[in-house]
Amino acid sequence: MNTVIAIDGPAGSGKSTVARLLAERLGLSFLDTGAMYRAVTALAIRRGIDVTDEDALTSLASTVDITTTPRVIINDLDVTEEIRTSEINSTVSMVAAVAGVREAMVRRQREFAERQPRGTVVEGRDIGTVVFPQATLKVFLTAELAVRETRRAGEGSDSIASRDLLDSSRASSPLRIDADAIELDTTHLTVEQVVGEISAWLKAH
Ligand code: DC
Repeated sequence: MNTVIAIDGPAGSGKSTVARLLAERLGLSFLDTGAMYRAVTALAIRRGIDVTDEDALTSLASTVDITTTPRVIINDLDVTEEIRTSEINSTVSMVAAVAGVREAMVRRQREFAERQPRGTVVEGRDIGTVVFPQATLKVFLTAELAVRETRRAGEGSDSIASRDLLDSSRASSPLRIDADAIELDTTHLTVEQVVGEISAWLKAH
């Protein structure tokens, strides 16, 4: 298997910023799996699909083309800005809870990593537990809710707390820390410090 660094954790724990910088420093590719679930949600809404219609969501997710870097594109549609709106923030957890949607996304995530011979930093919720159980290094980032809210300023505390609850309590691949993962509380750390810690673990690995 190619090198995979799995970075999981709740919203606002610093995953995206850290994963992006780490990938850049190490010369690895970067995959934002949350953006994939967001892109499917955006297209479903555009097509008028009910976000409780699991069959329709599954068939949509199974047939779409998605890229997340440098722009988030689904079926030739650029949804980079659209996927950060409050409408998507408040519905994406429902779409991400659908087992068929997850299966389709996980398949694409594994195919993506296979195509990156230098390796990939992958960030999400189930990367170390489900998508890449054999990952080279598994990191689980956490942070106090108040700090996570500040980092996601504008989303509102309800949004983050209720998304966390849905993501952690769903039946299919809930957010949880893998037994092999190293946990890091980023509450009082800068991005540089977090990237430094992970790089040190990688070297010691
Ligand atoms: O990381 P984010 O906020 O962009 O994630 C958006 C949503 O997708 C969030 O509800 C969690 C979900 N998600 C998931 O279930 N599995 C992943 N691997 C990544 C994100």
